[in-house]
Amino acid sequence: MPPVEVEYTEHGRWGGRLTNRPLPDRDSEIDKLSAHDRDRLAKIWLTRAAMERRVADSFEVIHSALTRQRAATDIIELSYRAIDDEYRHAELSRVVASRFAGHELPPPERLVLETPKHTGASPDLRDTLFVVGQCVLNETTAGVYLETCLTHATGPLAVSALRELLSDEIDHGRIGWAHLASVSQDVRNDIARWMLPMAYLNLRIWKYETALDPNHTEALSKHGAPPAETIHDALANALASLIVPGLKQLGMSTASLEAWIEAGAGTDKPPVEFLGVS
Ligand SMILES: [Fe+2]
Ligand SMILES: [Fe+2]
Repeated sequence: MPPVEVEYTEHGRWGGRLTNRPLPDRDSEIDKLSAHDRDRLAKIWLTRAAMERRVADSFEVIHSALTRQRAATDIIELSYRAIDDEYRHAELSRVVASRFAGHELPPPERLVLETPKHTGASPDLRDTLFVVGQCVLNETTAGVYLETCLTHATGPLAVSALRELLSDEIDHGRIGWAHLASVSQDVRNDIARWMLPMAYLNLRIWKYETALDPNHTEALSKHGAPPAETIHDALANALASLIVPGLKQLGMSTASLEAWIEAGAGTDKPPVEFLGVS
């Protein structure tokens, strides 16, 4: 296979290195896995590589939105760094997938980014909604997702990779919270009305991307992929214990979001019956 062309650069967080700390050279826990489990883990981590790469595209949108909004310089800079961070995440996940496969895997096929339409929002509000949807929601829940994976992981390579990913995603979440804290209360009140539909869509995507697997085994948990049920519970819990309190702190109404979470945060159908709750 020809060498993989990496997209991250020396201007990134770690000056051109893929990780802060080197990944372990050897992982004897991987050697103990069956060929079947190795294959499954390679696929799981390669799917993650594709998703991470798509988030890099999303941060191009976020960086443009924050620039148009004349957000604080450090927030704009952090959103620019995040593009490179996500290039590293994609490559890190591909490297981990290759270690499970036992040979170099090519980068996965690119996933197409579908930017939310936010029909009815002004261009200004739409920019802030992009930032809130990606950073306040998706990056905060990504942090919880990775924490959940870490809690169950014991394999040295998986633990090391998950820690690297988590240390960036925390910063990416901060972009959203810092920006939301900087806009006016009127804008926050406008955004509050969008939080339930956005949280619903975010959780629905997460569930789609971490589908229930009746053949899940402990081996997958050890190497960074806990059962989907555990992940889904953690994500719903994150909405209740992180997102809602954060929004309340910023004086935003969360009644409809809380009512939906209280009723089980279902994603089978749009939560229209909760939209009017105040
Ligand atoms: Fe990422
Ligand atoms: Fe991220």
